[in-house]
Amino acid sequence: MNISIKNIREADCPCDALILPVTEGDSGINSKLGASVQHLIKKAFTKEFKGKHNEILLIPSPGDIKPERILLVGLGKKGDISAEKIRQAGGKAAAYLRDMGMKKLALSTRDIASLKLSSVNFIEGALLGIYTFKKYKGEKNNKALDNITILSKTSRELENKLKWAETVASSVFFARDLINTPSNDMTPTNLARAALSLNKKNLFVKVLEKKDAEKLGMRAYLSVAKGSNEPPKFIVLEYKGAEAKPLVLIGKSITFDSGGISLKPADGMEKMKYDMAGGAAILGIIKAASEMKLPVHLIGLLPATENLPGGAATKPGDIVRAITGKTVEIINTDAEGRLILADAIGYAKRFKPVAIIDIATLTGACSIALGNEAIAMMGNDKKLIDRIKKSSENTYERVWEMPLYDEYKEYLKSDVADIKNTGGKNGSLVTAAYFLYEFAEKTPWVHLDIAGTAWVDKDKPYIPKGASGIGVRLIMDLLKDFRP
Ligand code: BES
Ligand code: MN
Ligand code: ZN
Repeated sequence: MNISIKNIREADCPCDALILPVTEGDSGINSKLGASVQHLIKKAFTKEFKGKHNEILLIPSPGDIKPERILLVGLGKKGDISAEKIRQAGGKAAAYLRDMGMKKLALSTRDIASLKLSSVNFIEGALLGIYTFKKYKGEKNNKALDNITILSKTSRELENKLKWAETVASSVFFARDLINTPSNDMTPTNLARAALSLNKKNLFVKVLEKKDAEKLGMRAYLSVAKGSNEPPKFIVLEYKGAEAKPLVLIGKSITFDSGGISLKPADGMEKMKYDMAGGAAILGIIKAASEMKLPVHLIGLLPATENLPGGAATKPGDIVRAITGKTVEIINTDAEGRLILADAIGYAKRFKPVAIIDIATLTGACSIALGNEAIAMMGNDKKLIDRIKKSSENTYERVWEMPLYDEYKEYLKSDVADIKNTGGKNGSLVTAAYFLYEFAEKTPWVHLDIAGTAWVDKDKPYIPKGASGIGVRLIMDLLKDFRP
């Protein structure tokens, strides 16, 4: 999609639809469009439209202006309008106009500017909201927006913000595509291919094969791969935008989680293709960071494998040794995420990182606790936690901190090994994180459980149902001014 900024009057912009974001109950702001349009808007405001948040109304325009239609979009009550409300309105409006077959849009920025908010949030929502995943659909539809003109004076700041929004949104799409792709096509090998496709001058990608992982002693990770015929791929990316100790980003990359021998129930199992959403988010982040040439040093680690119950699969009661030397008793083969992350965290320490952040669809308990609305966050570094909370406010990819009490250590005590991989039903969101903590130890580390947020079952204003691509916008915001 082509987005441009033009400093012309709304009435002079030829387009399929002119979008007018409006405040609830306020029919008067856009008087610049002329008396006939003003009359139409006033009439609409008395009956079918109030300007409530996300409310939309398409009206044909009178012949005396260039836009063929006008789309009123409600922003809600003046005092309640926020960046997020604008983002949502953008998503709603764009998806609606796309579905109506419109191609060329213009955005009036007058009202948003008068609220001292940024129209870029509207564009951001619009970009994110028009995502579709149609790769496997026979019927072809050519409903796609191809042009949005932002009607505003241009400035360096506006251009920079717009470039950021476009780059990040395209990385969110990249992540969503990988996650939505079914596991027969999104195997560890194909995920590695997708990562390798990012290889370029300032972004180096390599793939550790099974034998490399064996040499490194990644027996926890490899124990998960044993039940599958698909070869595991441990993907390593490095983006060096600064001479500094790296921030290591780890993404859970189970391309399909059947539970293994501790098999999951059939109901809903098809969704377990999204168990690599953490890995996809990391690829999106590193792609966007390199395109924006951010002055940061990042290492991305994606331990990729399937979790299947094949004849060679790991069985409950088996004991494996992780890269750090710790032995793990595997109580439940469905608690596989922490096994692959343990080896990734152990491997990450070799890079002497300033910090480690892992993103993972780790526990069902995460969605039970927080629903689709928040990422569960746990970690050992207050400063990093606080920074992520700030980014969560900026992006509305909300995080909620959960505790890592010392007492949880007890839950993971094994009679026969150094640690066991499940701590029972109670507190399973936090004991999963505590397991990772036992591998991160003193290294500053934050864990983000995205099990509840990586997939949405019904459309949200700028997240069509399916993969959300969560994590990309959050961590990109963190990296914006990340100078360790
Ligand atoms: N990938 C799942 C967690 C999950 C569940 C993500 C639902 C998204 C939606 C994870 O590997 C898992 O199976 N966790 C188990 C752990 C349990 C066996 C201790 C869980 O949460 O049930
Ligand atoms: Mn599992
Ligand atoms: Zn899993």
